[in-house]
Amino acid sequence: MKLMVIGGGGREHAIIRKLRENPEITHIYALPGNGGIAADAECIPVGARDIDGIVAFAQDNWIDFAVVAPDDPLVLGAVDALEKVGIPCFGPRASAAIIEGSKVFSKNLMKKYGIPTAEYEVFDNAEAALEYIESAPIPTVIKADGLALGKGVIIATTRDEAREAVKSIMEDKVFGASGNSIVIEEFLEGPEVSVLSFTDGKTMIPMVSSMDHKRALDGDCGLNTGGMGTVAPNPYYTADVAAECMEKIFLPTMEAMNSEGRTFKGCLYFGLMITKDGPKVIEYNCRFGDPETQVVLPLLESDLFTVMKAVSEERLGEVEVKFSSGAACCVVMASNGYPAKYDTGFEIKIPADIDAEVFVAGAKLSEERLLTSGGRVLGVVKTADTLAEAVDGAYRAVDKVGFDNAFCRRDIGARALAALKN
Ligand code: AMP
Ligand code: GLY
Repeated sequence: MKLMVIGGGGREHAIIRKLRENPEITHIYALPGNGGIAADAECIPVGARDIDGIVAFAQDNWIDFAVVAPDDPLVLGAVDALEKVGIPCFGPRASAAIIEGSKVFSKNLMKKYGIPTAEYEVFDNAEAALEYIESAPIPTVIKADGLALGKGVIIATTRDEAREAVKSIMEDKVFGASGNSIVIEEFLEGPEVSVLSFTDGKTMIPMVSSMDHKRALDGDCGLNTGGMGTVAPNPYYTADVAAECMEKIFLPTMEAMNSEGRTFKGCLYFGLMITKDGPKVIEYNCRFGDPETQVVLPLLESDLFTVMKAVSEERLGEVEVKFSSGAACCVVMASNGYPAKYDTGFEIKIPADIDAEVFVAGAKLSEERLLTSGGRVLGVVKTADTLAEAVDGAYRAVDKVGFDNAFCRRDIGARALAALKN
């Protein structure tokens, strides 16, 4: 069985490691992969947005199954294109990936089907948006409609910031066509929870919950990043909250997509906020989260490929999806300066006897040496019986991995551990 995984970050590394546990899989290609993934898969220099290149490679190499991990190719229709030439895939078609690709779509979907989310208004011209801002409650949240590398959300704490945000998105087009429309929504408060969920449109199986740490610096300070670390499970996601989410959010979303003729098959990511009025959807993603995947998949005890194949064949209800009762912590080691300007090209040294899993996000191989090549470089992951042990173990491993110019947060898991004590 020959597999192809589209993407080249830490998330894809974690997916590939897990897939490798299945003995039926003889070969895994990563398109494009990265210098660290090269230890676990054959990396092919085809970009994740190059749909024609992906399809051509799959056909030329008799690929049996494809996993499309990042948002861009999903929204661009990579799954549709691969299925058209007869290659089964894990991932939603473009008609369903729109749940992440357009915030206007997802907000309208939630309103139509009564799924709890922040109150909002949609604007397709700056003038009307600016007029609305004058009387909007502050803080207010302004979101570009389309994909914006995770940066399309601005939380404005003053009216001036809100005006600036509207102008930069709609007039200066800082996110390009993604800012042709915007959503302005109510500012919600409460702990955030990420829930990745397998679904084939008939069955919905949430994975173990997790908590991302989006800001660059300790204490949730600094700029927003792609994610500086994660822990699983998330202590705010209690059994009661989980039951409420299933009833009011997860199943209604699956049914809503079916009713719209946009059946979602793949991993549906629910970004939730546990407000005083109950859980509400902050965002949907049409894919595995990064770096949530790096803590969720190491806790999966079932075979990932079996589950992915069942999703693709719409028989998820027939397979077992079991998670360990333990915990995991992922500490991201990034290049100094990330998410702004940073230097790359520093050698990464990972001791062979390290007591943790290291997923590589941004590195390239140069004459057998692994060199930093991105903002987020490594995700160092420790699983253990308890969250305290996982956090402790992850940091002990971090201290053994080295590259010049590295930085990481020192408080990944601190909030989760504090919540467990209360
Ligand atoms: P998103 O890209 O939609 O996940 O938004 C990025 C981050 O902005 C989220 O993880 C939240 O921390 C924050 N955020 C988004 N929407 C809201 C909201 N309505 N109220 C408060 N915070 C929000
Ligand atoms: N960690 C957030 C995301 O994957 O979008």
